[in-house]
Amino acid sequence: MEHSKIALPIGITLDRFIKNIDNLQPNTIGELSQLLRDIALASKVVNREMNKAGLVDIIGNYGNQNSTGEEQQKLDILANIRFTRALSKGKEACGVISEETEDFIDFNNKGSYVVAIDPLDGSSNIDVNVSVGSIFSIYKRITPNGTPLTKKDFLQKGINQVAAGYILYGTSTMLVLTLGDGVCGFTYESTLGEYVLSHKDIEIPDTGSIYSINDGLNNFIMNKTVIEYINDCRKQKLTARYIGSLVADFHRNLLKGGIYLYPETIQSPEGKLRLLFECNALAFIVEQAGGKATNGKNRIMEVEPLDFHQKSSLYIGSSQMVDQIA
Ligand code: AHG
Ligand code: MN
Ligand code: MN
Repeated sequence: MEHSKIALPIGITLDRFIKNIDNLQPNTIGELSQLLRDIALASKVVNREMNKAGLVDIIGNYGNQNSTGEEQQKLDILANIRFTRALSKGKEACGVISEETEDFIDFNNKGSYVVAIDPLDGSSNIDVNVSVGSIFSIYKRITPNGTPLTKKDFLQKGINQVAAGYILYGTSTMLVLTLGDGVCGFTYESTLGEYVLSHKDIEIPDTGSIYSINDGLNNFIMNKTVIEYINDCRKQKLTARYIGSLVADFHRNLLKGGIYLYPETIQSPEGKLRLLFECNALAFIVEQAGGKATNGKNRIMEVEPLDFHQKSSLYIGSSQMVDQIA
């Protein structure tokens, strides 16, 4: 997909990219831009904390003099605090719902946008120095600006997203973003403290050679089509790749072509991943890159959420591969 309206030389900063967006409603440009800047800033703070994760104990043991209670919290709680704080300090987001909290937070301001976040995805991988991520979806609020937020502001279908993205804290840190006009990737240049455009107009190949599923689930998968499909992948000698960090598994398949599968299982009959915090954002991104995302029956972005923490099965990636499941 071409960003025909936007001048996008490789190497421009995220900030400049955001300033150049003109495919949005003119009266929302400033607001959404600032909101994206706030998310990017929070991700830089999280990135810094992630990088020193292995040092926390060492620093903590040094007489504990410099360690505050906050520093000793689990990193997914810390990441939640970082994103929530950044969003609440700006005036563009009027509320946030996070995987880490039961209910939404109303910032009681006049902002137009609500945000759903998985502040730290794949957190069990931190201890072993494997890539993790953050995922976000941005929606326009439904109720009038300036009034108290209600459930329905957050229980929106994925098709209502105005922007979505993820940050991958990997061998380099990247922010991948869609505003509904294609997908772009920005790599963090830590000496400059800036995200710079490195992946312009990302398109996922229509098919690929990678399938990504937790193989240990094999005997517990409830959907027969999925079992047959996996057997087929084996027969065709496709490559199995699964890290257990959704963002990292998704990102690899987005660039190389492939499918990520998290089916309904006997233990998790609705699937494991969360519609609001994980599935919708990645579904928006993959579709904008030319791929597909379903729950095995329906397009993910058309599923009506009934609960903030609703789970879903997820089949996402190259269109021809996803077509074989749904
Ligand atoms: P989170 O760390 O936000 O709870 O998400 C973990 C998710 C996702 O990142 C990953 O793909 C999946 O859990 C892995 O689940 P299994 O260990 O069941 O394969
Ligand atoms: Mn997650
Ligand atoms: Mn998480």
